[in-house]
Amino acid sequence: MKEQLESIRVKAMEALEDASTPAALEELRVKLLGKKGELTAVLKQMGKLSAEERPIMGQMANSVRAAIEEKLEERKETIHAAAMEARLAAETIDVTIPGESYCIGHQHPMNQVLQQIKDTFVGMGYEVYEAPEVELADYNFTRLNIEEGHPSRDRSDTFYFTDDDSVLLRTQTSPMQIRYMETHKPPICMLAPGRVFRKDEADATHSPMFHQIEGLVVAEDITMGDLKGALISILRKVYGESAATRFRPHHFPFTEPSCEMDMACHKCHGTGELDGQVCSTCHGEGWIEVLGAGMVHPKVLENCGIDPEKYSGFAFGMGLERMAMGQLKINDLRLIFDNDVRFLNQF
Ligand code: PHE
Repeated sequence: MKEQLESIRVKAMEALEDASTPAALEELRVKLLGKKGELTAVLKQMGKLSAEERPIMGQMANSVRAAIEEKLEERKETIHAAAMEARLAAETIDVTIPGESYCIGHQHPMNQVLQQIKDTFVGMGYEVYEAPEVELADYNFTRLNIEEGHPSRDRSDTFYFTDDDSVLLRTQTSPMQIRYMETHKPPICMLAPGRVFRKDEADATHSPMFHQIEGLVVAEDITMGDLKGALISILRKVYGESAATRFRPHHFPFTEPSCEMDMACHKCHGTGELDGQVCSTCHGEGWIEVLGAGMVHPKVLENCGIDPEKYSGFAFGMGLERMAMGQLKINDLRLIFDNDVRFLNQF
């Protein structure tokens, strides 16, 4: 029995020394000291010993147990310390590595101009209105007095969704005039910005998607003078008090009379020439068209259930990109949509 105890002690010391994880240690503890462990098995045989031998063996068994417990504790601490050491080494932070920097974005330059235009109109009492980009041909054309067969309804100009040409991507923001008049009674003072779509190849001044800002004012005794006053004041607000503008007669099926408004070219300052060459921004015109406008056609008022004998109104549709290009002195429309941060960061 003495040899048995001695052998348990020696083997236990070796096994504990070899154990390198907390799990291995726990397994050994159960194996050596547990109820079904080796030491317990030896102690169970104590009854067979003589009365003199029993206390001696008892003492010896206790000292083996104590030695094992002590060794267990010591190994536990060593293994824990080693694990900690490894973790510290693995998680070292190199404080000399440059940190990650985050760029904070800002509003797109075109939206900055849109915001300014909206603010100005809201200040004049306009209500901002929105409507779907997918539109009925009825609203986009028919009720705006644009009859069947009109060139703007052509499949080569308009994105249609249906074979019968009844659903399309709106080609202008003017259908919002109809939608608004259907649901609101005069006096009306509305501003409706939005995306519009036309089958245009992208170049310096064209894009298949661009933005317009529609305006509509309907009340008693509205005149062309009101139209001019509102539009001149908005252009001055955006381009400065000295901004030169002009109105030209034009034709739109939904306004009568109709006009277009130009502003002096921001590149050549209205001269049409730049360094002895024809100005490429205005093609030598000296003027850039920024919007179409006119007095709301009586038929359009009637189409929306408004009495043209009692009410009159004006409407306009301005090109937001044109306005932004003029204000920010950008000479290629594509820059607005490319979203190159080297460009955007300049504003
Ligand atoms: N919708 C017209 C266009 O896209 C502009 C316009 C709007 C003209 C309102 C008159 C009145 O060209």
